[in-house]
Amino acid sequence: MTPEGTRVGVLFVCLGNICRSPLAKVVFEHHVRRAGLAERFRIDSCGTGGWHAGEGADPRSVKVAAERGLRLDHVARMLHHTDFVSFHYLIAMDRSNRTNMVTMGAPAERVHLIRAFDPRMVGKGERELEVPDPYYEGDDGFVKVYEMRDAACGGLLEAIRQEF
Ligand code: 4NP
Repeated sequence: MTPEGTRVGVLFVCLGNICRSPLAKVVFEHHVRRAGLAERFRIDSCGTGGWHAGEGADPRSVKVAAERGLRLDHVARMLHHTDFVSFHYLIAMDRSNRTNMVTMGAPAERVHLIRAFDPRMVGKGERELEVPDPYYEGDDGFVKVYEMRDAACGGLLEAIRQEF
């Protein structure tokens, strides 16, 4: 891990910042807390689009989190280019989030697809690594997103622990 006092910055990024990335944030925070590493991380989420900035997370994401004992009280915000300086890991939910970040100037080597860290996805093609946008789906879509998050966040924490 980083030297004492230096926090590892992890930013989860989706499009609207109300469905996928706020859920990823609370799930990753849960993994980090469980590992006793909360003091070593700075974790946030944002969207490449600003339509929902200032709003709370989608109630379906809040519900999926609450049913698993996690409180989701994130307020949506839009990605800012200063995020590329202050976060070590820029974690995209899908390929368009990644393309948008790189177009805005994010260093490509720090931008990752979240599902690339899911041990069950080793050897899968990039298209399969996308987390589908559940915005126009029912509650089922949100449960699937949660499950993808949980598997990937464990792998992400392991990968970061090996790097720092
Ligand atoms: P998210 O889902 O990127 O997972 O937060 C979306 C929510 C809202 C919209 C798009 C995606 N929207 O266009 O309003």
